[in-house]
Amino acid sequence: MSILGRSFIRSADLSGERIHSFFEYVLALKNEFNQHKNFDRLVQKDHRKVIALLFFEPSTRTRFSFEIAAKRIGIQTTTLDSAASTSLTKGETLIDTIFNICAMKPDALVIRHSGNKEVNDCIRDLKIPVINAGDGTDEHPTQALLDAFTILEHRPKKEKSKVLFVGDVKHSRVAQSDRRLFERLGFELGYTAPESLAPTEKEWSQARSFKTLSEGLAWCDVVMGLRLQQERYSGAEYIDLNSYIENYRLDYNSLQSLKADGLIMHPGPFVPEVDLSSDVLSDPRCVIHQQVENGVYVRMALLSEILGLRK
Ligand code: CP
Repeated sequence: MSILGRSFIRSADLSGERIHSFFEYVLALKNEFNQHKNFDRLVQKDHRKVIALLFFEPSTRTRFSFEIAAKRIGIQTTTLDSAASTSLTKGETLIDTIFNICAMKPDALVIRHSGNKEVNDCIRDLKIPVINAGDGTDEHPTQALLDAFTILEHRPKKEKSKVLFVGDVKHSRVAQSDRRLFERLGFELGYTAPESLAPTEKEWSQARSFKTLSEGLAWCDVVMGLRLQQERYSGAEYIDLNSYIENYRLDYNSLQSLKADGLIMHPGPFVPEVDLSSDVLSDPRCVIHQQVENGVYVRMALLSEILGLRK
């Protein structure tokens, strides 16, 4: 199924077969960039497309990645990255802000927001393609694509990769989107989390739950660290930080249990010395910065396909 002119809101919007053909295009873009530093053979660049990036929540990776991806293929961007610089400060609603920007007829919207049913309903009714750049605790589908692409790049013949999520699975939109996409790709899923941060949805019932990090690490091929999403806590999730660090932090000691050819991943941002110790970045199994690099090629491919620029 073509994604030309369509929105991309949920990671399950792509079938397993479609994901693989999409990843072939992502890989071609990556190879082309590394060999020629341009994409003239793969992307139509003689156009006047403009997209609006609306970030109602903070972002480093996703926002810059979309901007760089767009600009590399000749798409102009206009970005809202601080509510303080908009009429939201005068009482305009987020939905009215979105409708007004749509009235200026950008070719697509990229939206990050804190997760709100009314905003999601309004997005569904828009007449232009919308790409979800992170939506509360529910979805971050382009992160799921770049995570899956990075895993398959390292483990191309091993579709049954076992992926372990560690920590705040309950509030992580990355974990939700990853789960939906990874299941389509046939990955096996597991998690280890403090009781108050473990997932409660029945969709996680197929995933293996591990009592300890070392058991989970011994089982998995890929470990996905997650940030403690304390800004989303209601109060019921009291966490003793020292105990959390002792039991769930990915660091030199805990990662002794991960196999030699395992992958260490994290969607970022990570809280240094809490969910990840900084020395993990120099572990040869760590692919965190490759995830970030691949995010640009994934978003380039997505924009190119949705806006009809793919050659
Ligand atoms: N991974 C991710 O979404 O990071 P940002 O919040 O910095 O965009």
